Amino acid sequence: MLSPDLSFDAAQFGAPRRPLVDSFARAVTYLRVSVTDRCDFRCVYCMAEHMTFLPKPELLTLEELDRLCSAFVARGVKKLRLTGGEPLVRRDVMTLFRSLGRHLETGALEELTLTTNGSQLARFAADLKACGVERINVSLDTLDPDRFRALTRWGDLNKVLAGIDAAQAAGLKVKLNAVALRGENEDELPALIEWAHGRGMDVSLIEVMPLGETGADRMDQYLPLSAVRASLARHWTLEDIAYRTGGPARYVRIAETGGRLGFITPLTHNFCEGCNRVRVTCTGTLYMCLGQEDAADLRAPLRASESDEALHAALDDAILRKPKGHDFVIERRGSAPAVRRHMSVTGG
Ligand code: 5AD
Ligand code: SF4
Repeated sequence: MLSPDLSFDAAQFGAPRRPLVDSFARAVTYLRVSVTDRCDFRCVYCMAEHMTFLPKPELLTLEELDRLCSAFVARGVKKLRLTGGEPLVRRDVMTLFRSLGRHLETGALEELTLTTNGSQLARFAADLKACGVERINVSLDTLDPDRFRALTRWGDLNKVLAGIDAAQAAGLKVKLNAVALRGENEDELPALIEWAHGRGMDVSLIEVMPLGETGADRMDQYLPLSAVRASLARHWTLEDIAYRTGGPARYVRIAETGGRLGFITPLTHNFCEGCNRVRVTCTGTLYMCLGQEDAADLRAPLRASESDEALHAALDDAILRKPKGHDFVIERRGSAPAVRRHMSVTGG
């Protein structure tokens, strides 16, 4: 008997793929991909001093990363952020930026960007711009060289500052991300903000999240941004503004500096409601939420065949499992991290 052929694949013939919509009717339009778990820094809130990194064969190749990102773009992802670890320490990572840039040219992708610690930016800024990158996030928690060295354990502030100079000279818009750390950079945040605004850079402050063992107690590091905001408001006029970049930050304009300041508050304010993001690790594991353990393996379907069918089926299945939100709390001294994996695995 003849059975009907149900394997007809509309996408092969150019028909648009279904968008990725979760069971709470949130459309996933923003993908963050960690391209390496390695980093040339060891920030105290992010990593332990001695880290065991993944063996190379576990990592997706640059070609696999391109296929994976392109599959997401075919499903309606408009914004793609490469992260790590430190994305710019991955060998030949510019090849990936260059090939992903083609989706900007067709208009399928609206933004290609990265989060970087800045250490390699002096080398790569012009190339990034040439690949179609317009805006980048640079992580910088302090402008004091000794403090910088203590916080990152291995970092050199001068290199990062040179990287920021190069990025701005190349025409990239730079936003600074600073993790607010009690007793560490708390006193310096106004100076950091003033410096950034003076150079035309926005700043986002981030609450430290309980991700992975680092050898330090998050309870000692945790500084609620509600307290930071109240203290800044004693010196400056903060005006809430509607500006959004597609991420979770809520912005104010500071009248005195004329610049924008974002607050990323996973702990004091649950930002999950409007979540449009998912993350993929450098081994091809899809995390539907930064703060939950549930995950889907995309590497097996990627490697199973040259066609993307199995991959798209895995995406359909995973997106429906995207949880309503995370449940981070930092409440007890010595409490275990909410999530065992480090930020450098899932990507910032
Ligand atoms: N909590 C909050 N932010 C973190 N980052 C890394 N680990 C943590 C954590 N546990 C930040 C980095 C960088 C971004 C990628 O994530 O400082 O800005
Ligand atoms: Fe590296 Fe970023 Fe983690 Fe610091 S926070 S160790 S720069 S991945």
